[in-house]
Amino acid sequence: MNKKIAVLSGDGIGPEVTDQAIKALNAIAKKYNHQFEYNTSLVGAVAIDETGDPLPEETLTNCKESDAVLFGAIGHPKYDNDPSAKVRPEQGLLKLRKSLGLYSNIRPVKAYSTLIDKSPLKIDRIQGTDFVIYRELTGGIYFGEKYLSEDGNTASDLCLYTREEIERIAKMAFKAAQNRRKKLTLIDKANVLESSRLWRKVVTEMSTNYPDVSLDFLFVDNAAMQMILNPSQFDVILTENLFGDVISDEGSVIGGSIGLLASASVGNQYAMFEPIHGSFPQGAGKDIANPVAAILSASMLLEHFEMFDEAQCVRNAVDKALESNVSTSDLNPSSIYGTNAVGDFIAESIAKS
Ligand code: IPM
Ligand code: MN
Repeated sequence: MNKKIAVLSGDGIGPEVTDQAIKALNAIAKKYNHQFEYNTSLVGAVAIDETGDPLPEETLTNCKESDAVLFGAIGHPKYDNDPSAKVRPEQGLLKLRKSLGLYSNIRPVKAYSTLIDKSPLKIDRIQGTDFVIYRELTGGIYFGEKYLSEDGNTASDLCLYTREEIERIAKMAFKAAQNRRKKLTLIDKANVLESSRLWRKVVTEMSTNYPDVSLDFLFVDNAAMQMILNPSQFDVILTENLFGDVISDEGSVIGGSIGLLASASVGNQYAMFEPIHGSFPQGAGKDIANPVAAILSASMLLEHFEMFDEAQCVRNAVDKALESNVSTSDLNPSSIYGTNAVGDFIAESIAKS
């Protein structure tokens, strides 16, 4: 198959981890006889530096003309500590999600048996954990009207959801549950928020169409606790944008490192694949970033192309690296392997498999 992939490696460690994902994709292309064409574009702080815009028009065009987008990371400390900055790298990512209609962000969380002792949580609590978060990605408080008073002393962000926005992602989450252990948990704050009550109402109504899926609800504060106390109770989690952002970072602790968590962001027309970790500026250029999340994101990209054997082959190579202790120092403090060495090992395993 011939596929065009837009590569937006972004800021900080983005470029180095994305390079490793491309090594894995190249190994797959060679082994399975595919042609992947990569077109790189600027996004984030690097794009601001070069063009003044965190998402230049050319970048968006490249994404729209490709079969999928491979994304690295975004963010730079010079903006984090400057609340008055008018242009911010994150705006590029948010605009990209909105412009491509990527309303559903899918984040799988798993306790790898080979890494279970790396998690700061007790082994007996996290054993068997395997769930997936469906986070709404183009609505809610991230995109609601923003207000800052003239004197700069009053601010607000509106959290708005429509039935349609809830239904389209809920449908994906119900379907995912049907293909998994048939349990869907809606995480909200329906005891306080009107928007959460709408989520509950819409999702409850929809549940009659999925009689094989058992639906339950958790308030987000309780869910944050349950995720640490008993994470194996979850199968598919459905939640709005901000809650999903928070609990997915929390979920990453279960696997032992945020450097392991991949994600897919999909809509009706486009799809983008990115590690959930940030740009980790302190680690940039040091060859210490864990490339596994980026490589597993590439495997989700292959699934999107319906290259299921290929995607499994990448996951197997990642498992092999982890089992062989070929991992970066976030997982193994005395590791002799850097970002590149782990990427090479995984690409070579793909080639040899
Ligand atoms: C994520 C990130 C982004 C978000 C930031 C970089 C805007 O934290 O993908 O989870 O908040 O959605
Ligand atoms: Mn986040």
